[in-house]
Amino acid sequence: MSQDQSECQQLLLSEEADLLDLEARYCSWGDTVHYAGKLNIFIAAEGNCLYDRNGTEYFDLQMWYSAASFGYKNNRLNNALKRQIDTLPQLACQYLHEEKIQLAAKLAQGIEKSFGIKGRVHFNVGGSAAVEDSLKIVRNHSGKNPVFAFMGSYHGRTLGASAITSSYRYREKFGHFGDRACFVPYPYCFRCHYEQKKEDCDLYCLRQFEKLFETEYHAVLNTKTDKCEFGAFYIEAMQGTCGYIYPPANYFRGLKKILDRYNILMVDDEIQMGFFRTGKFWAIEHFKVVPDIITFGKALSNGLNPLSGIWAKEELICPEVFPPGSTHSTFSSNPLGTAVGLETMKLIEESDFATQIPQKGAYFAERLQGLQKRYPQIGDVDGLGLAIRVEICQKDGYTPDKKLTDAVTNIGLNGDLTAGGKKRGLILDVGGYYKNVFTIAPSFYITYKEIDLAVDLFEEALQKGIELLK
Ligand SMILES: Cc1ncc(COP(=O)(O)O)c(C=O)c1O
Repeated sequence: MSQDQSECQQLLLSEEADLLDLEARYCSWGDTVHYAGKLNIFIAAEGNCLYDRNGTEYFDLQMWYSAASFGYKNNRLNNALKRQIDTLPQLACQYLHEEKIQLAAKLAQGIEKSFGIKGRVHFNVGGSAAVEDSLKIVRNHSGKNPVFAFMGSYHGRTLGASAITSSYRYREKFGHFGDRACFVPYPYCFRCHYEQKKEDCDLYCLRQFEKLFETEYHAVLNTKTDKCEFGAFYIEAMQGTCGYIYPPANYFRGLKKILDRYNILMVDDEIQMGFFRTGKFWAIEHFKVVPDIITFGKALSNGLNPLSGIWAKEELICPEVFPPGSTHSTFSSNPLGTAVGLETMKLIEESDFATQIPQKGAYFAERLQGLQKRYPQIGDVDGLGLAIRVEICQKDGYTPDKKLTDAVTNIGLNGDLTAGGKKRGLILDVGGYYKNVFTIAPSFYITYKEIDLAVDLFEEALQKGIELLK
Protein backbone atom coordinates (compact mmCIF):
# COMPACT_ATOMS: atom_id res chain seq x y z
CA MET A 1 0.00 0.00 0.00
CA SER A 2 1.42 3.42 -0.99
CA GLN A 3 1.59 6.27 1.54
CA ASP A 4 -1.30 8.04 -0.28
CA GLN A 5 -3.46 4.93 -0.10
CA SER A 6 -2.66 4.43 3.54
CA GLU A 7 -3.54 8.07 4.37
CA CYS A 8 -6.79 7.73 2.43
CA GLN A 9 -7.66 4.58 4.41
CA GLN A 10 -6.94 6.37 7.70
CA LEU A 11 -9.26 9.22 6.68
CA LEU A 12 -12.04 6.79 5.74
CA LEU A 13 -11.65 4.99 9.05
CA SER A 14 -11.87 8.20 11.06
CA GLU A 15 -14.93 9.36 9.05
CA GLU A 16 -16.54 5.98 9.69
CA ALA A 17 -15.77 6.24 13.40
CA ASP A 18 -17.41 9.72 13.42
CA LEU A 19 -20.52 8.37 11.70
CA LEU A 20 -20.77 5.45 14.12
CA ASP A 21 -20.41 7.89 16.97
CA LEU A 22 -23.35 9.94 15.61
CA GLU A 23 -25.35 6.76 15.12
CA ALA A 24 -24.74 5.71 18.70
CA ARG A 25 -26.04 9.05 19.95
CA TYR A 26 -28.84 9.97 17.55
CA CYS A 27 -30.31 6.80 16.03
CA SER A 28 -32.81 4.78 18.01
CA TRP A 29 -31.37 1.42 18.90
CA GLY A 30 -34.86 -0.08 18.87
CA ASP A 31 -34.44 -1.69 15.47
CA THR A 32 -32.20 -4.70 14.82
CA VAL A 33 -28.94 -2.93 13.88
CA HIS A 34 -27.38 -3.54 17.28
CA TYR A 35 -28.04 -7.30 17.16
CA ALA A 36 -24.69 -7.55 15.35
CA GLY A 37 -21.36 -7.43 17.11
CA LYS A 38 -19.86 -5.52 14.19
CA LEU A 39 -21.55 -2.47 12.65
CA ASN A 40 -20.94 -1.86 8.96
CA ILE A 41 -21.83 1.18 6.88
CA PHE A 42 -22.55 0.34 3.25
CA ILE A 43 -22.43 2.79 0.40
CA ALA A 44 -23.29 0.75 -2.69
CA ALA A 45 -25.06 -2.40 -3.85
CA GLU A 46 -25.03 -4.34 -7.09
CA GLY A 47 -26.16 -7.83 -8.09
CA ASN A 48 -25.33 -10.17 -5.18
CA CYS A 49 -23.08 -7.71 -3.39
CA LEU A 50 -22.90 -4.80 -0.99
CA TYR A 51 -19.89 -2.45 -0.76
CA ASP A 52 -18.56 -0.61 2.26
CA ARG A 53 -16.78 2.73 2.44
CA ASN A 54 -13.41 1.10 1.69
CA GLY A 55 -14.78 -0.48 -1.46
CA THR A 56 -14.73 -3.95 0.15
CA GLU A 57 -17.21 -6.29 -1.48
CA TYR A 58 -19.59 -8.35 0.69
CA PHE A 59 -21.28 -11.34 -0.88
CA ASP A 60 -24.86 -11.16 0.32
CA LEU A 61 -26.63 -14.41 1.16
CA GLN A 62 -29.72 -12.82 2.66
CA MET A 63 -30.77 -10.11 0.16
CA TRP A 64 -32.63 -7.92 2.62
CA TYR A 65 -34.51 -10.94 4.06
CA SER A 66 -35.68 -11.76 0.52
CA ALA A 67 -36.93 -8.23 -0.22
CA ALA A 68 -34.26 -7.84 -2.90
CA SER A 69 -34.68 -11.31 -4.40
CA PHE A 70 -34.24 -10.05 -7.96
CA GLY A 71 -30.79 -8.65 -7.20
CA TYR A 72 -29.52 -5.27 -6.10
CA LYS A 73 -29.85 -2.52 -8.69
CA ASN A 74 -31.84 -4.77 -11.01
CA ASN A 75 -31.82 -2.64 -14.16
CA ARG A 76 -35.25 -3.55 -15.36
CA LEU A 77 -36.95 -2.89 -12.02
CA ASN A 78 -34.91 0.25 -11.34
CA ASN A 79 -35.92 1.59 -14.76
CA ALA A 80 -39.60 0.96 -14.00
CA LEU A 81 -39.16 3.11 -10.89
CA LYS A 82 -37.34 5.83 -12.82
CA ARG A 83 -40.04 5.88 -15.52
CA GLN A 84 -42.71 6.27 -12.89
CA ILE A 85 -40.78 9.07 -11.17
CA ASP A 86 -40.82 10.93 -14.47
CA THR A 87 -44.52 10.36 -15.18
CA LEU A 88 -46.78 9.89 -12.15
CA PRO A 89 -44.53 9.86 -9.07
CA GLN A 90 -47.21 10.83 -6.56
CA LEU A 91 -50.92 10.27 -6.32
CA ALA A 92 -53.23 10.23 -3.34
CA CYS A 93 -54.45 6.68 -2.91
CA GLN A 94 -58.10 7.68 -3.20
CA TYR A 95 -57.52 8.23 -6.95
CA LEU A 96 -56.85 5.48 -9.43
CA HIS A 97 -53.78 4.82 -11.51
CA GLU A 98 -53.24 2.19 -14.17
CA GLU A 99 -50.41 0.26 -12.50
CA LYS A 100 -52.42 -0.39 -9.35
CA ILE A 101 -55.31 -1.86 -11.32
CA GLN A 102 -53.08 -3.97 -13.56
CA LEU A 103 -51.00 -5.26 -10.68
CA ALA A 104 -54.06 -6.24 -8.61
CA ALA A 105 -55.52 -7.99 -11.64
CA LYS A 106 -52.29 -9.90 -12.35
CA LEU A 107 -52.00 -11.08 -8.75
CA ALA A 108 -55.66 -12.09 -8.48
CA GLN A 109 -55.68 -13.78 -11.90
CA GLY A 110 -52.49 -15.67 -11.04
CA ILE A 111 -54.08 -16.97 -7.84
CA GLU A 112 -57.25 -17.88 -9.75
CA LYS A 113 -55.12 -19.89 -12.17
CA SER A 114 -53.06 -21.64 -9.49
CA PHE A 115 -55.78 -22.26 -6.91
CA GLY A 116 -58.98 -22.08 -8.98
CA ILE A 117 -60.52 -19.43 -6.76
CA LYS A 118 -61.62 -15.84 -7.27
CA GLY A 119 -60.61 -12.99 -5.01
CA ARG A 120 -59.40 -9.41 -4.72
CA VAL A 121 -56.24 -7.60 -3.70
CA HIS A 122 -55.81 -4.75 -1.23
CA PHE A 123 -52.45 -2.97 -1.09
CA ASN A 124 -50.57 -1.47 1.83
CA VAL A 125 -46.99 -0.56 2.75
CA GLY A 126 -44.86 -3.08 4.61
CA GLY A 127 -45.63 -6.62 5.63
CA SER A 128 -46.91 -5.83 9.12
CA ALA A 129 -49.48 -3.40 7.71
CA ALA A 130 -50.72 -6.12 5.34
CA VAL A 131 -51.01 -8.48 8.31
CA GLU A 132 -53.08 -5.84 10.14
CA ASP A 133 -55.43 -5.61 7.15
CA SER A 134 -55.76 -9.39 7.04
CA LEU A 135 -56.73 -9.37 10.74
CA LYS A 136 -59.52 -6.93 9.89
CA ILE A 137 -60.80 -9.26 7.18
CA VAL A 138 -60.72 -12.18 9.63
CA ARG A 139 -62.57 -10.27 12.35
CA ASN A 140 -65.08 -8.84 9.90
CA HIS A 141 -65.86 -12.29 8.53
CA SER A 142 -65.82 -14.33 11.70
CA GLY A 143 -66.73 -11.78 14.34
CA LYS A 144 -63.84 -13.21 16.37
CA ASN A 145 -60.56 -11.72 17.55
CA PRO A 146 -58.61 -14.79 18.70
CA VAL A 147 -56.59 -16.68 16.10
CA PHE A 148 -54.22 -19.63 16.06
CA ALA A 149 -50.64 -19.16 14.92
CA PHE A 150 -47.53 -21.30 15.06
CA MET A 151 -44.76 -21.35 17.58
CA GLY A 152 -41.84 -19.87 15.70
CA SER A 153 -44.12 -17.64 13.62
CA TYR A 154 -43.07 -14.15 12.60
CA HIS A 155 -45.78 -11.87 11.24
CA GLY A 156 -44.29 -8.46 12.05
CA ARG A 157 -43.89 -6.00 14.89
CA THR A 158 -46.84 -3.62 14.78
CA LEU A 159 -49.05 -4.26 17.78
CA GLY A 160 -51.55 -6.48 15.92
CA ALA A 161 -48.83 -8.44 14.16
CA SER A 162 -46.83 -8.82 17.39
CA ALA A 163 -49.87 -10.41 19.01
CA ILE A 164 -49.72 -13.27 16.50
CA THR A 165 -45.92 -13.48 16.38
CA SER A 166 -44.74 -16.16 18.77
CA SER A 167 -41.80 -14.54 20.53
CA TYR A 168 -42.82 -12.98 23.86
CA ARG A 169 -39.60 -10.91 23.68
CA TYR A 170 -41.33 -8.69 21.09
CA ARG A 171 -44.33 -8.10 23.38
CA GLU A 172 -42.79 -8.06 26.82
CA LYS A 173 -42.41 -4.30 27.18
CA PHE A 174 -45.55 -3.21 25.42
CA GLY A 175 -48.45 -3.93 27.70
CA HIS A 176 -51.15 -6.54 27.68
CA PHE A 177 -51.91 -8.28 24.40
CA GLY A 178 -55.51 -9.32 24.80
CA ASP A 179 -55.52 -10.70 21.26
CA ARG A 180 -52.42 -12.82 21.69
CA ALA A 181 -52.71 -15.86 19.44
CA CYS A 182 -52.93 -19.42 20.65
CA PHE A 183 -49.57 -20.77 19.50
CA VAL A 184 -49.39 -24.33 18.21
CA PRO A 185 -46.13 -26.28 17.60
CA TYR A 186 -44.94 -26.09 13.99
CA PRO A 187 -43.78 -29.37 12.47
CA TYR A 188 -40.08 -28.66 12.98
CA CYS A 189 -39.01 -32.22 12.34
CA PHE A 190 -35.28 -31.76 13.04
CA ARG A 191 -36.23 -30.78 16.61
CA CYS A 192 -39.72 -32.17 17.06
CA HIS A 193 -41.61 -30.40 19.84
CA TYR A 194 -43.12 -33.76 20.79
CA GLU A 195 -39.80 -35.61 20.45
CA GLN A 196 -41.16 -37.83 17.68
CA LYS A 197 -39.27 -39.15 14.65
CA LYS A 198 -40.48 -37.93 11.26
CA GLU A 199 -40.12 -41.39 9.71
CA ASP A 200 -42.81 -42.98 11.85
CA CYS A 201 -44.67 -40.16 13.67
CA ASP A 202 -47.67 -40.26 11.32
CA LEU A 203 -48.13 -36.49 11.85
CA TYR A 204 -48.41 -36.83 15.62
CA CYS A 205 -48.37 -33.00 15.94
CA LEU A 206 -51.40 -32.65 13.70
CA ARG A 207 -53.27 -35.19 15.81
CA GLN A 208 -52.43 -33.16 18.91
CA PHE A 209 -53.96 -30.10 17.26
CA GLU A 210 -57.06 -32.05 16.23
CA LYS A 211 -57.41 -33.29 19.79
CA LEU A 212 -58.09 -29.70 20.93
CA PHE A 213 -61.51 -29.99 19.29
CA GLU A 214 -62.49 -33.24 21.05
CA THR A 215 -64.02 -31.68 24.15
CA GLU A 216 -65.00 -28.19 25.25
CA TYR A 217 -62.51 -28.54 28.10
CA HIS A 218 -59.59 -28.33 25.68
CA ALA A 219 -60.55 -24.66 25.41
CA VAL A 220 -61.18 -23.98 21.74
CA LEU A 221 -64.61 -25.35 20.82
CA ASN A 222 -68.12 -25.31 22.21
CA THR A 223 -68.94 -28.88 21.32
CA LYS A 224 -72.65 -28.25 21.89
CA THR A 225 -72.85 -25.56 19.17
CA ASP A 226 -69.78 -26.69 17.22
CA LYS A 227 -68.57 -23.06 17.31
CA CYS A 228 -64.87 -22.43 17.63
CA GLU A 229 -63.51 -19.45 19.56
CA PHE A 230 -60.82 -18.85 16.91
CA GLY A 231 -61.45 -17.08 13.59
CA ALA A 232 -58.30 -18.02 11.69
CA PHE A 233 -55.03 -19.91 11.69
CA TYR A 234 -52.03 -17.84 10.52
CA ILE A 235 -49.42 -19.99 8.83
CA GLU A 236 -46.10 -19.59 7.07
CA ALA A 237 -45.83 -22.38 4.52
CA MET A 238 -42.10 -22.20 5.19
CA GLN A 239 -41.19 -20.49 8.45
CA GLY A 240 -38.89 -17.59 7.64
CA THR A 241 -37.51 -15.96 10.75
CA CYS A 242 -37.55 -19.22 12.68
CA GLY A 243 -35.12 -20.91 10.37
CA TYR A 244 -36.50 -21.87 6.93
CA ILE A 245 -38.34 -24.96 8.06
CA TYR A 246 -41.23 -26.58 6.26
CA PRO A 247 -43.58 -29.39 7.24
CA PRO A 248 -43.99 -32.90 5.83
CA ALA A 249 -45.93 -33.05 2.55
CA ASN A 250 -49.37 -33.87 3.98
CA TYR A 251 -49.36 -31.64 7.01
CA PHE A 252 -51.08 -28.54 5.62
CA ARG A 253 -53.71 -30.58 3.77
CA GLY A 254 -54.60 -32.29 7.05
CA LEU A 255 -54.61 -28.98 8.88
CA LYS A 256 -56.90 -27.33 6.31
CA LYS A 257 -59.40 -30.18 6.65
CA ILE A 258 -59.62 -29.57 10.39
CA LEU A 259 -59.91 -25.80 9.91
CA ASP A 260 -62.67 -26.14 7.32
CA ARG A 261 -64.62 -28.41 9.65
CA TYR A 262 -64.83 -25.58 12.21
CA ASN A 263 -65.03 -22.58 9.83
CA ILE A 264 -61.56 -21.36 10.72
CA LEU A 265 -59.87 -19.36 7.95
CA MET A 266 -56.36 -20.22 6.82
CA VAL A 267 -54.25 -17.09 6.40
CA ASP A 268 -51.08 -17.85 4.48
CA ASP A 269 -48.33 -15.33 5.21
CA GLU A 270 -46.16 -15.23 2.08
CA ILE A 271 -44.45 -11.95 2.93
CA GLN A 272 -41.02 -13.57 3.00
CA MET A 273 -41.49 -16.65 0.83
CA GLY A 274 -43.80 -15.37 -1.91
CA PHE A 275 -42.64 -14.45 -5.42
CA PHE A 276 -40.65 -17.62 -6.08
CA ARG A 277 -38.23 -17.66 -3.13
CA THR A 278 -39.05 -21.37 -2.64
CA GLY A 279 -39.21 -22.18 -6.37
CA LYS A 280 -42.96 -21.71 -6.65
CA PHE A 281 -44.80 -18.40 -6.91
CA TRP A 282 -46.38 -18.99 -3.48
CA ALA A 283 -44.68 -21.33 -1.02
CA ILE A 284 -48.04 -22.88 -0.11
CA GLU A 285 -48.25 -24.30 -3.65
CA HIS A 286 -45.76 -26.97 -2.56
CA PHE A 287 -48.44 -28.33 -0.25
CA LYS A 288 -51.51 -28.40 -2.50
CA VAL A 289 -53.67 -26.38 -0.17
CA VAL A 290 -55.90 -23.42 -1.05
CA PRO A 291 -55.64 -20.69 1.58
CA ASP A 292 -58.47 -18.23 2.30
CA ILE A 293 -56.23 -15.17 2.60
CA ILE A 294 -52.66 -14.52 1.43
CA THR A 295 -50.45 -11.72 2.71
CA PHE A 296 -47.48 -10.58 0.62
CA GLY A 297 -44.83 -7.85 0.52
CA LYS A 298 -41.03 -7.68 0.40
CA ALA A 299 -39.86 -8.97 -3.03
CA LEU A 300 -42.88 -7.59 -4.92
CA SER A 301 -41.04 -4.29 -5.33
CA ASN A 302 -37.53 -5.74 -4.93
CA GLY A 303 -36.89 -3.53 -1.92
CA LEU A 304 -37.50 -0.34 -3.93
CA ASN A 305 -40.62 1.64 -3.00
CA PRO A 306 -42.26 -0.66 -0.44
CA LEU A 307 -45.52 -2.30 -1.35
CA SER A 308 -47.37 -5.06 0.44
CA GLY A 309 -50.87 -6.38 0.37
CA ILE A 310 -53.41 -9.06 0.90
CA TRP A 311 -55.40 -11.26 -1.41
CA ALA A 312 -58.65 -12.62 0.00
CA LYS A 313 -61.37 -14.87 -1.35
CA GLU A 314 -64.20 -12.91 -2.96
CA GLU A 315 -66.70 -13.70 -0.20
CA LEU A 316 -64.33 -12.23 2.42
CA ILE A 317 -63.40 -9.02 0.62
CA CYS A 318 -66.17 -8.20 -1.87
CA PRO A 319 -67.52 -4.63 -1.51
CA GLU A 320 -70.71 -5.86 0.15
CA VAL A 321 -68.75 -7.11 3.19
CA PHE A 322 -65.60 -4.95 3.02
CA PRO A 323 -66.97 -1.60 1.85
CA PRO A 324 -65.06 1.61 1.00
CA GLY A 325 -63.08 2.95 3.96
CA SER A 326 -62.74 -0.42 5.73
CA THR A 327 -58.98 0.16 5.78
CA HIS A 328 -56.69 2.85 4.42
CA SER A 329 -53.20 4.24 4.62
CA THR A 330 -51.82 7.34 2.85
CA PHE A 331 -49.10 5.42 1.03
CA SER A 332 -50.98 2.14 0.55
CA SER A 333 -51.01 1.82 -3.24
CA ASN A 334 -48.27 4.34 -3.95
CA PRO A 335 -47.57 4.54 -7.70
CA LEU A 336 -43.80 4.02 -7.36
CA GLY A 337 -44.45 0.73 -5.57
CA THR A 338 -47.17 -0.45 -7.94
CA ALA A 339 -45.06 0.43 -11.02
CA VAL A 340 -42.17 -1.70 -9.75
CA GLY A 341 -44.59 -4.43 -8.60
CA LEU A 342 -46.15 -4.59 -12.04
CA GLU A 343 -42.73 -4.82 -13.68
CA THR A 344 -41.77 -7.57 -11.21
CA MET A 345 -44.85 -9.53 -12.30
CA LYS A 346 -43.94 -9.09 -15.98
CA LEU A 347 -40.36 -10.12 -15.27
CA ILE A 348 -41.63 -13.25 -13.50
CA GLU A 349 -43.93 -14.07 -16.43
CA GLU A 350 -41.02 -13.81 -18.85
CA SER A 351 -38.56 -15.81 -16.71
CA ASP A 352 -38.32 -19.47 -15.96
CA PHE A 353 -37.90 -19.23 -12.19
CA ALA A 354 -40.01 -22.36 -11.69
CA THR A 355 -37.18 -24.38 -13.27
CA GLN A 356 -34.12 -22.29 -12.44
CA ILE A 357 -34.71 -21.67 -8.75
CA PRO A 358 -35.24 -25.34 -7.74
CA GLN A 359 -32.18 -26.31 -9.80
CA LYS A 360 -29.92 -23.65 -8.31
CA GLY A 361 -31.33 -24.36 -4.85
CA ALA A 362 -30.63 -28.08 -5.19
CA TYR A 363 -27.05 -27.36 -6.29
CA PHE A 364 -26.48 -24.90 -3.43
CA ALA A 365 -27.94 -27.31 -0.86
CA GLU A 366 -25.84 -30.20 -2.27
CA ARG A 367 -22.66 -28.14 -1.95
CA LEU A 368 -23.57 -27.27 1.65
CA GLN A 369 -24.38 -30.92 2.37
CA GLY A 370 -20.85 -31.65 1.12
CA LEU A 371 -19.56 -29.31 3.85
CA GLN A 372 -21.85 -30.98 6.38
CA LYS A 373 -19.97 -34.26 5.81
CA ARG A 374 -16.73 -32.55 6.84
CA TYR A 375 -18.04 -30.30 9.63
CA PRO A 376 -20.06 -32.02 12.37
CA GLN A 377 -21.01 -28.49 13.48
CA ILE A 378 -23.44 -28.36 10.56
CA GLY A 379 -26.37 -30.26 12.03
CA ASP A 380 -28.87 -29.82 9.23
CA VAL A 381 -29.00 -28.51 5.67
CA ASP A 382 -32.36 -28.37 3.97
CA GLY A 383 -34.42 -26.05 1.87
CA LEU A 384 -36.99 -25.31 -0.77
CA GLY A 385 -35.75 -23.49 -3.86
CA LEU A 386 -33.37 -20.72 -2.90
CA ALA A 387 -34.46 -20.67 0.75
CA ILE A 388 -31.86 -22.87 2.42
CA ARG A 389 -31.25 -23.56 6.10
CA VAL A 390 -27.89 -24.38 7.63
CA GLU A 391 -28.31 -25.28 11.30
CA ILE A 392 -25.16 -24.78 13.38
CA CYS A 393 -24.65 -27.12 16.30
CA GLN A 394 -22.00 -28.35 18.65
CA LYS A 395 -19.84 -31.27 17.54
CA ASP A 396 -22.67 -33.71 18.33
CA GLY A 397 -24.48 -32.25 15.33
CA TYR A 398 -27.58 -31.48 17.41
CA THR A 399 -27.04 -29.15 20.40
CA PRO A 400 -27.64 -25.61 19.06
CA ASP A 401 -24.47 -23.50 18.96
CA LYS A 402 -25.43 -19.83 18.92
CA LYS A 403 -21.91 -18.75 19.89
CA LEU A 404 -20.40 -20.32 16.79
CA THR A 405 -23.24 -18.97 14.64
CA ASP A 406 -22.59 -15.43 15.91
CA ALA A 407 -18.83 -15.82 15.47
CA VAL A 408 -19.25 -16.90 11.83
CA THR A 409 -21.67 -14.01 11.19
CA ASN A 410 -19.25 -11.45 12.61
CA ILE A 411 -16.30 -12.94 10.73
CA GLY A 412 -18.33 -12.49 7.51
CA LEU A 413 -19.03 -8.86 8.45
CA ASN A 414 -15.32 -8.19 9.09
CA GLY A 415 -14.77 -8.23 5.34
CA ASP A 416 -11.42 -10.00 5.29
CA LEU A 417 -12.17 -13.43 3.92
CA THR A 418 -9.87 -14.45 1.08
CA ALA A 419 -11.65 -17.31 -0.75
CA GLY A 420 -11.93 -16.49 -4.44
CA GLY A 421 -8.62 -14.64 -4.43
CA LYS A 422 -9.60 -11.21 -3.07
CA LYS A 423 -10.52 -9.68 0.25
CA ARG A 424 -14.28 -9.98 0.73
CA GLY A 425 -17.00 -10.08 3.31
CA LEU A 426 -20.00 -12.34 3.63
CA ILE A 427 -23.48 -11.28 4.72
CA LEU A 428 -25.39 -13.99 6.55
CA ASP A 429 -28.76 -13.76 8.26
CA VAL A 430 -29.35 -15.72 11.44
CA GLY A 431 -32.71 -17.17 12.38
CA GLY A 432 -34.13 -20.23 14.06
CA TYR A 433 -35.72 -21.03 17.42
CA TYR A 434 -32.25 -21.11 19.02
CA LYS A 435 -30.76 -18.40 16.78
CA ASN A 436 -28.36 -20.94 15.34
CA VAL A 437 -29.59 -21.22 11.75
CA PHE A 438 -28.19 -19.43 8.73
CA THR A 439 -31.20 -18.63 6.57
CA ILE A 440 -29.66 -18.46 3.13
CA ALA A 441 -31.57 -16.47 0.52
CA PRO A 442 -29.36 -15.35 -2.36
CA SER A 443 -30.36 -13.34 -5.41
CA PHE A 444 -32.38 -15.38 -7.92
CA TYR A 445 -29.72 -14.45 -10.48
CA ILE A 446 -26.85 -16.06 -8.58
CA THR A 447 -24.80 -18.15 -11.01
CA TYR A 448 -23.45 -21.65 -10.33
CA LYS A 449 -19.93 -20.19 -10.16
CA GLU A 450 -21.13 -17.66 -7.60
CA ILE A 451 -22.74 -20.45 -5.57
CA ASP A 452 -19.31 -22.14 -5.48
CA LEU A 453 -17.74 -18.89 -4.33
CA ALA A 454 -20.44 -18.38 -1.67
CA VAL A 455 -19.88 -21.90 -0.32
CA ASP A 456 -16.10 -21.34 -0.23
CA LEU A 457 -16.56 -18.04 1.64
CA PHE A 458 -18.97 -19.73 4.04
CA GLU A 459 -16.51 -22.56 4.69
CA GLU A 460 -13.70 -20.09 5.36
CA ALA A 461 -15.86 -18.13 7.84
CA LEU A 462 -16.97 -21.37 9.52
CA GLN A 463 -13.38 -22.62 9.84
CA LYS A 464 -12.26 -19.30 11.32
CA GLY A 465 -15.21 -19.35 13.73
CA ILE A 466 -14.38 -22.87 14.92
CA GLU A 467 -10.71 -21.88 15.33
CA LEU A 468 -11.66 -18.72 17.26
CA LEU A 469 -13.80 -20.58 19.78
CA LYS A 470 -11.34 -23.43 20.37
C1 LIG B 1 -43.45 -14.00 7.20
C2 LIG B 1 -43.38 -12.54 7.53
N1 LIG B 1 -44.50 -11.88 7.82
C3 LIG B 1 -44.50 -10.58 8.13
C4 LIG B 1 -43.32 -9.87 8.16
C5 LIG B 1 -43.33 -8.41 8.52
O1 LIG B 1 -43.04 -7.64 7.39
P1 LIG B 1 -42.43 -6.16 7.55
O2 LIG B 1 -41.10 -6.32 8.21
O3 LIG B 1 -42.34 -5.66 6.14
O4 LIG B 1 -43.40 -5.39 8.38
C6 LIG B 1 -42.12 -10.51 7.86
C7 LIG B 1 -40.84 -9.80 7.91
O5 LIG B 1 -39.78 -10.34 7.97
C8 LIG B 1 -42.15 -11.89 7.55
O6 LIG B 1 -41.03 -12.58 7.29
